[in-house]
Amino acid sequence: MKRRKFLRGGLLGLGGLMASRGLKGQTPNEDFNAFLQERVAQAGLQGSVFDLQTEALPKVRVALIGLGNRGSSLIDMLEWLIGQGHAEITAISDINPQKVEKALQRIAEFQPNAPRVFTGSDAAWKEACSTETADLALICTPWEWHTPMAAYAMRQGLHAASEVPIATTYQEGIDLVQVAEETQRHCIMLENCCYNGEELWIMQMIKEGVFGSLTHAECAYLHDLRVMMLDPTYYEDRWRLKHHLYRNGNLYTTHGLGPVSMYFDILRGDTLSHLVSMSSREAALSEALADTDEAALQDMAKRVKCGDVNTTLIRTVQGKSIMLQFDTHSGRPYSRLDKVVGSKAAHYGYPSRLYIDHGPSWGHSWVDDDKMKAMREQYAHPLWTRLQALAAEHKQGHGGMDFIMMFRLIRCLNEGLPLDLNVYDGVLWSMVGILGEESVSRGSVRIDIPDLTAGKWRNATPHPVHRDLG
Ligand SMILES: NC(=O)c1ccc[n+]([C@@H]2O[C@H](COP(=O)([O-])OP(=O)(O)OC[C@H]3O[C@@H](n4cnc5c(N)ncnc54)[C@H](O)[C@@H]3O)[C@@H](O)[C@H]2O)c1
Repeated sequence: MKRRKFLRGGLLGLGGLMASRGLKGQTPNEDFNAFLQERVAQAGLQGSVFDLQTEALPKVRVALIGLGNRGSSLIDMLEWLIGQGHAEITAISDINPQKVEKALQRIAEFQPNAPRVFTGSDAAWKEACSTETADLALICTPWEWHTPMAAYAMRQGLHAASEVPIATTYQEGIDLVQVAEETQRHCIMLENCCYNGEELWIMQMIKEGVFGSLTHAECAYLHDLRVMMLDPTYYEDRWRLKHHLYRNGNLYTTHGLGPVSMYFDILRGDTLSHLVSMSSREAALSEALADTDEAALQDMAKRVKCGDVNTTLIRTVQGKSIMLQFDTHSGRPYSRLDKVVGSKAAHYGYPSRLYIDHGPSWGHSWVDDDKMKAMREQYAHPLWTRLQALAAEHKQGHGGMDFIMMFRLIRCLNEGLPLDLNVYDGVLWSMVGILGEESVSRGSVRIDIPDLTAGKWRNATPHPVHRDLG
């Protein structure tokens, strides 16, 4: 199929399909890449929101949408900030009345004013997105709701902060950037792993030159979720399991890719150029489903589409490579790999090991425990040093990183400062999963990653996470 013909079909005839996942492997790869670039150009992206500064909000009024596992834990993360007068939960929304009740009880433990409640339908959340009520929509719903909710909130004048991933189709990613630019509202994806102690320590070592020239990283989300996905009550209506029935690829890119993008100055001097992605066969999830005594789950066992292990290889414009993996089916200890290689040092995570290169004849041993301790102290990231004690005093959330993430979000909004991550970061990291699914569906072909920043990624600026905040 010629490119022009494909684009005409794609843009005029396949309106609905564009918003859906992929083009079903019908077209050669170069047509798909051209299609994506054309979509970006057509979106007329303008009015960059890189380093967006908005009005200071001395007390951020938060509309919290989705009160399940994550929504409840982010209430805990807000407690201290609310106690300090930096924020207030002014609205909550969920379709499940029991979760609304539980959230109201928890908030009453530390906030004098009860939030307004929006429930009763899966569109009730829209009423919470009014500047009369809130400044920030905090979105903790299933994946398919993230883009519609964030885009709607921005259109109503609110800033949007969404759980990961922020988009599940490439059209959603493009739409989010477009709406953020049109409305000049913040749109942040809440990638908590960017604030973990180990990742911040590595970032600090990179900043101080310990790794020399960076060449390669390996990162992942390897988390056996079978018990949680099968549990009828853990994820509302088993929404997460359902994604595995019709998608194949990396459905959760951002916990691995977020920190690596910070290590590699992605969108701050370098960017992701292209990828190839491959999934293994599927076995572990369907076997677990077949082993249950629930007919509905046994039926699903025949329909699992997502391979157990997905591996995506990404190259950056400046020539670094990234190996990104995803596996939530197989039994094994949790890992994000967290491997970084440079010309002078290498770090392997889970467990954390560091190698400092002293030349070819030095030997092949990890640094010993004493040296490791000294390195941890010498290169502790100031953000971690300052906030870990505060995080420990309160409900930490994943060892402290969730608290630090929420602290940064609210305090930047209080001061009217650019947020640590912008819409381009969140969409890019989510887009890698979406484009990886395209690659998988076409026999692991190369897919180019579109530039959504209109060239702004070339500015080599320090990452905002290094900026100090009161
Ligand atoms: N960053 C992290 O470490 C982390 C950890 C857990 C979950 N998450 C993310 O958080 C999100 C939520 O996951 P979860 O585990 O809390 O799932 P969950 O099922 O426990 O919670 C989702 C909630 O959204 C509600 N909901 C669904 N549709 C709604 C609608 N239209 N209006 C209002 N409420 C609606 C559900 O009733 C449910 O209470 C997901 O994106 C997940 O990937 C991130």
